[in-house]
Amino acid sequence: MSETLQADETAEPAIVGRGLSKVYGLGRRQAEKALAAQDPRAAAAAAGGYLGAHEIDFEIAKGEMFVVMGLSGSGKSTVLRMINRLNEPSAGELLIDGEDITQVSDQRLRELRNNGIGMVFQHFSLFPHRTVRENAAYGLKVRGITKQERLERADAALDRVGLGGRGDKLPHELSGGMRQRVGLARALAVDPPILLMDEPFSALDPLIRRDMQDLLVELQAQDQRTTVFVTHDLNEAMRIGDRVMVMREGRVVQLAPGPEIVAHPADDYVSEFVSDVDRARVLSAGDLIRPARLVLPEDITPRDALRRLGENEVTGAFVTGADDRLLGVVTDDRLVSLTRRGAKSVHGALGEDYHQVKEGDVIGDFMHLAGRQVVPVTVLDEDGRLRGVVPRGAILSALSTVNDTENDSVNDSDEAAEVAHA
Ligand SMILES: Nc1ncnc2c1ncn2[C@@H]1O[C@H](COP(=O)(O)OP(=O)(O)OP(=O)(O)O)[C@@H](O)[C@H]1O
Ligand SMILES: [Mg+2]
Repeated sequence: MSETLQADETAEPAIVGRGLSKVYGLGRRQAEKALAAQDPRAAAAAAGGYLGAHEIDFEIAKGEMFVVMGLSGSGKSTVLRMINRLNEPSAGELLIDGEDITQVSDQRLRELRNNGIGMVFQHFSLFPHRTVRENAAYGLKVRGITKQERLERADAALDRVGLGGRGDKLPHELSGGMRQRVGLARALAVDPPILLMDEPFSALDPLIRRDMQDLLVELQAQDQRTTVFVTHDLNEAMRIGDRVMVMREGRVVQLAPGPEIVAHPADDYVSEFVSDVDRARVLSAGDLIRPARLVLPEDITPRDALRRLGENEVTGAFVTGADDRLLGVVTDDRLVSLTRRGAKSVHGALGEDYHQVKEGDVIGDFMHLAGRQVVPVTVLDEDGRLRGVVPRGAILSALSTVNDTENDSVNDSDEAAEVAHA
């Protein structure tokens, strides 16, 4: 779980589901009758319906990345689509910021869908004859914003997903992964407090998919947007999720942070997913450690530090003192403001924005922290000396189940990703 999430734990949850059930294919009264039966699944089937979700409970914290995982047909989309009532719940409550949205007026519901809850699908429809920029601006159209501002916000969102400068292209001129970025930009342009994502990366090939996961993690570190993300894939769930809700046959079988699910799968169904990521419990930081890309001495000037960051194409670096003891991390923006103030020492720019681990820590315990800071996960010894780092790329390739040839290119693209945000 991220620190923000822990800090917010006492706050009111963003989304609460209580006793949510969905019976497909039956009218309200028949559905209620089926749900009241001894065996609701059988009763729903006997009446010619289908029990898609049954008595689902969850609380999603503000800013949480909440993953819903399970096999095909387990009810993931059913649950997701109840959150914006694309799917009317047959029973139960759904609170968003305390408001039961199963009870709200149509007008309020429209407002929520337009401003409050964004959605990204596996196959979302880009308009083929409109430019990428117009496609990204689409969600703003219903909101009475001037065309000028719509396009500016679309451009800003395209920048954030790495498509800056491609606004004038048409969708068919982009690759599948880039088109998916446009879909993401469309949601980001609206900037909704809640984002629902239904297997947004499932149609992408594995390498592009990883890039998209990295991008999402990066955006999430900046925005801390309450997000519900549906996936089949536990590796994906682990990489991006704060917590994972595992579903089977319309029910929740486990709801926990990814590492806990890997360590203590609730049943054989969950273990089946987990068998892919057992390495996370076996490999430790010491197995994956490598030298930090940039380590600066504490007596360097802010100006020189900035120059070194630039030369190394990184936005943050470690600063060590005597005996390699880690003093902290400097970031480019803090250095810039120090330089502006004419400071001669980097001490004023030192921060604790790094995640520290020991060499013996297993990667399952810290993989969810990878990529959340400007420097990779940081390995210190007992005395606080900097031993090295575990880049996210190293974690991902250690956990990946793809074959060797694919692995090589995974490393390359991760290396690039690491430079981009390390
Ligand atoms: N509109 C519908 N009418 C009848 N049955 C439906 C409807 N939508 C979904 N179902 C059934 O409900 C069950 C759960 O469906 P759901 O789409 O939530 O599964 P899922 O976990 O999202 O699966 P997938 O991974 O394939 O997307 C499935 O058996 C599905 O066939
Ligand atoms: Mg689905």
